[in-house]
Amino acid sequence: MNLRPSDTEQLNAWKRVIIPDDRDLYKIDHYLAHGGYKALKKALEMKPEEVIDEVKRSNLRGRGGACFPTGLKWSFMPKNFDKPKYLCVNGDESEPGTFKDRQIFEYNPHLLIEGTLIACYAMGITTAYIYIRGEYGKWIKMLQKAIDDAYANGLVGEKILGTEFSTQVYIHRGAGAYICGEESSLMNSIEGERGYPRVKPPFPAQVGLWGCPTTINNVETISNIPVIISYGWEWYSKIGTAKHPGPILVGVSGHVNNPGVFEMPTGEPLLEIIYKRAGGVPGDKGIKAVIPGGSSTMILRGDQLEGIRMDAESLKTAGSSVGTAGIIVMDEDTDLIQVITRIAEFYYRESCGQCTPCREGTDWMFKILKRFQRYEAKKEDIDLLLDVANNIEGNTICALGDAAAWPVQSMIRNFRDEFEQRVQTSRFQEIVL
Ligand SMILES: Cc1cc2nc3c(=O)[nH]c(=O)nc-3n(C[C@H](O)[C@H](O)[C@H](O)COP(=O)(O)O)c2cc1C
Repeated sequence: MNLRPSDTEQLNAWKRVIIPDDRDLYKIDHYLAHGGYKALKKALEMKPEEVIDEVKRSNLRGRGGACFPTGLKWSFMPKNFDKPKYLCVNGDESEPGTFKDRQIFEYNPHLLIEGTLIACYAMGITTAYIYIRGEYGKWIKMLQKAIDDAYANGLVGEKILGTEFSTQVYIHRGAGAYICGEESSLMNSIEGERGYPRVKPPFPAQVGLWGCPTTINNVETISNIPVIISYGWEWYSKIGTAKHPGPILVGVSGHVNNPGVFEMPTGEPLLEIIYKRAGGVPGDKGIKAVIPGGSSTMILRGDQLEGIRMDAESLKTAGSSVGTAGIIVMDEDTDLIQVITRIAEFYYRESCGQCTPCREGTDWMFKILKRFQRYEAKKEDIDLLLDVANNIEGNTICALGDAAAWPVQSMIRNFRDEFEQRVQTSRFQEIVL
């Protein structure tokens, strides 16, 4: 059976498992009464390596942006080790266009806690940190309440469910820096250091938090774990596309009638998501451009969307990526120069400044784009801008540099005419001529 929907009927038939309709799941009694923490119980009856194997076979790929296979990542953790091991659950969620993890904090926090505990059991971890951006005050409080309730019910802490397995779960609050969502900056931030990315190798599974083996996973990734354990890898791997299976939380924002976060099997057609789930474009306007996976992913042309599906493979083929599945829709009247200038400003301000190509390059891209925005650009500025972006890409310690370069590169590749128009009407040229 393939649960990938291709029409409205199937869309409605899809039963959500990460954020179901039930709005009381955040209450521990309700969660327990509806099968909550049964996956943990089941996992504790398995051997840790069997749990990792189950996750591996499910083909779950990380939902934090890079789509890395989760089971494989877990298998990198050393098994017999005399120092502590750590899990960091990444809820920094600072990518513009992405607002899915906070739905889990609000509507199904125990699913996340249960997944965290199963992950700790599988990797022999006794301490987990859930890192959440500081601006998420409301959601931090909600998750803390759920953690406190889980402690009070003997589900977190010492000798969980009467077994020998013990794990502590802490929330670590960020201070509003996008870079701290990058896994090695996140670890520095938890350690109380400046949020600078670390050079890899060594990878976190070898040298992570306080020099000990550490696994970092996204909030949504971890929330898939109880589902896999409950229903089994075989069931899970048949949801959506074979190479990138499972339910996925897709955020849709921008020029749509019904913005929000929608849970669906991977592989749903992009146009169906925009028109059926998000209600189409206000005023029935055409679509000029779409950012498919959060602001760092390559921008797509509106006339290029037919046949593209919301999964890693399809979006890669289309010249972009699924990223954090945050779709931003822009209608035919959108000023794309304004859009890309705003995105470039974000990356310029959020660059931590450690690597020269990113520190200087993001500043230059923003400066050049402001010239286009003010109609002061010269024709050569288009290639100059591309040159700066190309010199950032691949030349930095972490992927923030790539995240800054890709939107600019793809905007020039797909919408060069918009830049040329700004040159033709440039005040600068009028003055010079
Ligand atoms: C600048 C930057 C910001 C990032 N922000 C986040 C974030 O907010 N949440 C997240 O899960 N991953 C973020 N990532 C990706 C993480 O480094 C890491 O790959 C991810 O947490 C791994 O989880 P996964 O394997 O479950 O996807 C970011 C990466 C970069 C380069």
